[in-house]
Amino acid sequence: MTNGNRSPYWSDIVSRLDPYVPGEQPRDQQYIKLNTNESPYPPAPGVAQVLAGFDCDALRRYPDPESRALVDTLATVHGLERDEVFVGNGSDEVLAHAFHAFFQQPDPLLFPDISYSFYPVYCGLYRIDHETVPLDERFEIDFSDYRRANGGIILPNPNAPTGIAVERASIRELLADTPESVVIIDEAYVDFGAESAVPLIEEFANLLVVQTFSKARNLAGLRLGCAFGQAPLIEGLNRIKNSFNSYPVNQLSSAIGIAALEDDAYFRDCCKRIIASRERVGEALVELGFEVLPSSANFVFARHHARDAGEIYRSLRDNGILVRYFDKPRINGFLRISIGSEDECDTLLATMERILG
Ligand SMILES: Cc1ncc(COP(=O)(O)O)c(C=O)c1O
Repeated sequence: MTNGNRSPYWSDIVSRLDPYVPGEQPRDQQYIKLNTNESPYPPAPGVAQVLAGFDCDALRRYPDPESRALVDTLATVHGLERDEVFVGNGSDEVLAHAFHAFFQQPDPLLFPDISYSFYPVYCGLYRIDHETVPLDERFEIDFSDYRRANGGIILPNPNAPTGIAVERASIRELLADTPESVVIIDEAYVDFGAESAVPLIEEFANLLVVQTFSKARNLAGLRLGCAFGQAPLIEGLNRIKNSFNSYPVNQLSSAIGIAALEDDAYFRDCCKRIIASRERVGEALVELGFEVLPSSANFVFARHHARDAGEIYRSLRDNGILVRYFDKPRINGFLRISIGSEDECDTLLATMERILG
């Protein structure tokens, strides 16, 4: 879409939006896709069985607006009550509802200057005043910077695109220090080596934890996300959801999500393999002259000591490998490289060696 498509019929806010631009999903060529942190592995085997056995006639009916079967399975997996779980059409939608439900406050919302680039977009959509808080020179969060008046805090843990995780103990202290505002921990990548904040829910009424099926459950194409928190926060999300779309999770997504959750061994095995590849790729990149930030996610964030990141990005692309390059202050020397299959990682490293050689 270009500015040429502007319309006098738009509501006022539409012209002022600065929409999110997702990583490329190319249609034209077979790329090795290491640019959107998708899983290199297929969904759990039970997912194919659900698809094969799905009763097509059931699609005549609307799905359960409360997604009770999926919510109950998530509650069991995480040791929570049904009314402490919310589900939505991808965690992006869950996050959007959470911004709408909790962050329209007189004081500004706080989040790191380098974090998920959808956060400022939701602020634009819902007219939420926000301030970004600089990560320190090692790209780490200094929690003392968040101890000031705020209308809410959101932190990805591990952070994106750095991959750096914080300990649950630090989140605990933050929650205790800011009882008057909602703290959202966005755990899109938590299963690759970080500590989840879910065990803190019982203690803190202001904590909302958001997770996704897109990464560690290998289901980015399904669009399923969830949030966990004490019942009044979940009720807030449900009020927004029921004022927007009563049926965000379709019947098939719900059944597939349950099948994925029920196969814990497969889930753990996929995470283990990705963690092993991440460590191998990280070490090899260091050998090739990169600084690699310590990652607890399914990607690494790396900068070469001598070569321009934009140039490496373009050379990789010319060689059929897509990674993510953010042309933004502080991080325009870095590449974010998703961890692919073992073979894809081999090809990446061999290509990188050739390009840099
Ligand atoms: C930090 C973070 N949060 C949330 C999401 C959204 O995930 P989804 O909408 O696929 O559940 C992403 C996607 O890349 C992410 O990086």
